[in-house]
Amino acid sequence: MASDGKRDNPQGPPGGDGLSRREFLRGGAAVGALGGAGLLAGEMLEAAKNDPHAPRLEGGVEVWGPGPVPMRLRVNDKPMDLMLEPRTTLLDALRDHLELTGAKRVCDRGTCGACTVLVNGDPVYACSLLAITVQFTPIHTVESLGHRDELDSLQAAFVENDAQQCGFCTPGFVMAAKALLDRNPNPTLKDVHHGLSGNFCRCGTYAGMRKAVLAAAAADAEPEPEKKKRKKEAPQDPKGGLRG
Ligand code: FES
Ligand code: FES
Repeated sequence: MASDGKRDNPQGPPGGDGLSRREFLRGGAAVGALGGAGLLAGEMLEAAKNDPHAPRLEGGVEVWGPGPVPMRLRVNDKPMDLMLEPRTTLLDALRDHLELTGAKRVCDRGTCGACTVLVNGDPVYACSLLAITVQFTPIHTVESLGHRDELDSLQAAFVENDAQQCGFCTPGFVMAAKALLDRNPNPTLKDVHHGLSGNFCRCGTYAGMRKAVLAAAAADAEPEPEKKKRKKEAPQDPKGGLRG
């Protein structure tokens, strides 16, 4: 394991009956170490027990933790290997362990949407999901969109339509809007209402945000040269919201 707590080797996801992929691999390594003596499955499981991170078997069920266990998250199209306690939420994994602070912690109990990220393209509250349950699943945060020199059309539309005040809710709204536009590139105002209905803005900038989502949909329908021009002219706000 690397000294920064990140894991060197990916492992299979927890769960499953009998010999899991992880146990099989560990057992396979043990077979190699013993010169291919041909261990039986029970002996392979025995060898797996020497791994300090191996799950306990209680009543035939794998029990992970409570200490840190190896996890692999696939965030913004990159594999991230981590050692995390199984109780770690996806939001804590992103903010505290991967320094991706675009998703915000506000209510921390699945009511405000400030922590919205996409898991397999669906908008989810990262504060209400355990990181261990979304291993190997595509996760996209607001950092996957545009950057300072070239804003994503959605981020640019939020800025151009004055769709934020304090900006703390904005990354969550941007990701909810992205999920909506990915599914429905030509939404009606009613569709936008519905698509953003899981997010709260305490500053009350809903009208601007709805306008921004409709403007982004229109911009994405523009021919390519027009889009490029818009990106160049867009004001500089890399994350569509505040940092930290
Ligand atoms: S911080 Fe996750 S829903 Fe509010
Ligand atoms: S802009 Fe302040 S909470 Fe939405």
